[in-house]
Amino acid sequence: MKPRAVIGAVAVAGFKRTLAQALDCPIENDFRPLSAGQWIEAANPGWNAGNTLDAVPDEGSWNNAPLQNSTLSHVKSAGYKSVRIPVTYADHFVTGSPEWKINSTWLQRVSDVVDMATSQGLYVITNMHHDSWSWADVSKPDANQTMIQEKFYSSWLQIAKLLACKSAMVALEPINEPPGTTAEHAEHLDKLNKLFLKALAETGGYNSQRVITLSNLGMGADRIQLFKRPENVTNPWAYQFHFYSPYDFIFSAWGKTIWGSAADKAAIAAELSSVRGNLSAEADVPILLGEFDASQLNLEPAARWKWFDFVVRTAKSLGMTTVLWDNGLDNLDRATGTWRDKIAVDITMSVLRGENNSLADSTTDGSATTQESSAYVFNKVGSGVTDKTLPFIMNGNNFTNLTVGSALLKEGEDYTLADSAVTLKQAFLAKYLSATAEPGTKANITVSFSAGAPSQIELVQWDVPTLSWYSVPAKDVAKGSDLQIPITWKGLHRVAAVKIATSEGTYLFDDWTQYLPDLQKGRGTFNSQWNFDHDRVIITKAAVEAALASGKNTTFTFEFYPRAAGNGNTVGFALTA
Ligand SMILES: *[C@@H]1O[C@H](CO)[C@@H](O)[C@H](O)[C@H]1NC(C)=O
Ligand SMILES: *[C@@H]1O[C@H](CO)[C@@H](O)[C@H](O)[C@H]1NC(C)=O
Ligand SMILES: *[C@@H]1O[C@H](CO)[C@@H](O)[C@H](O)[C@H]1NC(C)=O
Ligand SMILES: *[C@@H]1O[C@H](CO)[C@@H](O)[C@H](O)[C@H]1NC(C)=O
Ligand SMILES: *[C@@H]1O[C@H](CO)[C@@H](O)[C@H](O)[C@H]1NC(C)=O
Ligand SMILES: *[C@@H]1O[C@H](CO)[C@@H](O)[C@H](O)[C@H]1NC(C)=O
Ligand SMILES: *[C@@H]1O[C@H](CO)[C@@H](O)[C@H](O)[C@H]1NC(C)=O
Ligand SMILES: *[C@@H]1O[C@H](CO)[C@@H](O)[C@H](O)[C@H]1NC(C)=O
Ligand SMILES: *[C@@H]1O[C@H](CO)[C@@H](O)[C@H](O)[C@H]1NC(C)=O
Ligand SMILES: *[C@@H]1O[C@H](CO)[C@@H](O)[C@H](O)[C@H]1NC(C)=O
Repeated sequence: MKPRAVIGAVAVAGFKRTLAQALDCPIENDFRPLSAGQWIEAANPGWNAGNTLDAVPDEGSWNNAPLQNSTLSHVKSAGYKSVRIPVTYADHFVTGSPEWKINSTWLQRVSDVVDMATSQGLYVITNMHHDSWSWADVSKPDANQTMIQEKFYSSWLQIAKLLACKSAMVALEPINEPPGTTAEHAEHLDKLNKLFLKALAETGGYNSQRVITLSNLGMGADRIQLFKRPENVTNPWAYQFHFYSPYDFIFSAWGKTIWGSAADKAAIAAELSSVRGNLSAEADVPILLGEFDASQLNLEPAARWKWFDFVVRTAKSLGMTTVLWDNGLDNLDRATGTWRDKIAVDITMSVLRGENNSLADSTTDGSATTQESSAYVFNKVGSGVTDKTLPFIMNGNNFTNLTVGSALLKEGEDYTLADSAVTLKQAFLAKYLSATAEPGTKANITVSFSAGAPSQIELVQWDVPTLSWYSVPAKDVAKGSDLQIPITWKGLHRVAAVKIATSEGTYLFDDWTQYLPDLQKGRGTFNSQWNFDHDRVIITKAAVEAALASGKNTTFTFEFYPRAAGNGNTVGFALTA
């Protein structure tokens, strides 16, 4: 038997504080116990080191290099207080049943990364991640529950022993997004949670006092009523859930690139409040919103800023701590240490400082056939520029100044202000935009306010992009491959949406989208059916196969920003039968 943690009172610098010193931990390892509420409050906001130690089969296997200390410095200096370190153990077992020994090199790496984060003063939560679908899926009809429980318990004995003497800044989460939908699956998850707690109790160190999170099946906001709180949990615990809502906006499905109507906000408020509501009976369990994000790759940025402001603000009002999901492509560019959408990060920080953000206004009505956004001034090749008025949602702040780089713009000459709008003058815009200017991004204006995050107006000269070719017989696409078509961008380097229709006018996917508004009808889903990179648009293998199976000519109409019915900012590509 290992010695158990003992509690003692130690006099430090003339005052007494309670210090729990575990006999089996080095004497210099200080552990000042935190309640779950204290941990949750101190960890706000957090950042996920996504697609990193959770990559399958190994760290570095996906789109990110192994995690570096400098990446965590960038996270810390942006204002984040914690880091969630998802870890997949699945491919690191070196023996089978019943020991399920984990590779000691891998365990050491996990320990080192945890130390790297705490050495920077970042709170940590680490877990067992994609194991949830690779071997620990309790919802599979042929799941061997005995094996899952044996392997899970044995894994947690090893992980808990590894982390037993870490400081109270380190919290643990048993398993990420466990699949399942039924009460029976919830019973199985409850058994796993109990085994996790048993492993913590048996591994000594500070584990019996360590903050943990517990979750429902799937970890969404929806199945919370199936959550079974294990009886007699003695560890301080918080509830964790993940938030990717609304689905169509977050995953760029069905042409939904805008967000922010009163109904959009009410839906999010209701979803977040229902999580709080279901846990309030349990003496207000602290809540960790452990993952959330809306991809910056192709959403309209003003919509993204409004979404971040609203989600973080609502979560804060409900006492929830938010942890940004970052797969390495969406938020922090780890190679350069720059944030791809710094404004969304600043919006998060100012919400948490208690400030209001002034936000670029943008179209929120899905039935509008022209979408406007104060994040941009677009000018089409062939058109001259005029004064441009951009509305803002001020939220009680005033404009303070407008800059391009370090140059301060002159009020009256370059722009004029109204209470909640900026008018950029023709003479100023004409320095960047004109009938004959080359297409592309021309300048970014930073708009500052008396409080809250700054906003950005990007000046973009655009024309319709061109493709290297415009059709190919579907049967000629290499079997099992995505179809990649080189593109010459003529404005923003992003696709907004893709309409996928057969020569008979039917939609290849989700025929029900015929009932959606004009800018959404027949549009496919980002990543599942279409994608793009820096110099290509992509029709996925699944979409090629569906076109082939339809036996019909299928046109993929790529749409770009600005989005307006009939503005011609689209190119069609045909997969012929
Ligand atoms: C443990 O992992 C290291 C690093 O990947 C590898 O070199 C080693 O062979 C592994 N050990 C076993 C027993 O598989
Ligand atoms: C990580 O960087 C921080 C800040 O620069 C430094 O204090 C710390 O010692 C570093 N940790 C490691 C493990 O290199
Ligand atoms: C289920 O797992 C247990 C423990 O690993 C093992 O002993 C048993 O043979 C497995 N059962 C089946 C049907 O594979
Ligand atoms: C929880 O604690 C209560 C009161 O001590 C006890 O009656 C009950 O059996 C315990 N439940 C479990 C699952 O240990
Ligand atoms: C609990 O969650 C369900 C499902 O999300 C929701 O319908 C219900 O309103 C919630 N209950 C409370 C008290 O918030
Ligand atoms: C913050 O914004 C809200 C909503 O627009 C407003 O009611 C409130 O007065 C603002 N607070 C400050 C300090 O401006
Ligand atoms: C905004 O400007 C108005 C008019 O000048 C002034 O009365 C108000 O105090 C200002 N508000 C802030 C937050 O600076
Ligand atoms: C612009 O305003 C912001 C916020 O009020 C302020 O921090 C900044 O120093 C100002 N910039 C210039 C160049 O005056
Ligand atoms: C403006 O900012 C965007 C990112 O928000 C960037 O992609 C673009 O290159 C910038 N344009 C200029 C002219 O700096
Ligand atoms: C399909 O496309 C091919 C090649 O462009 C064309 O010859 C054929 O007529 C089209 N079929 C239909 C039904 O539109």
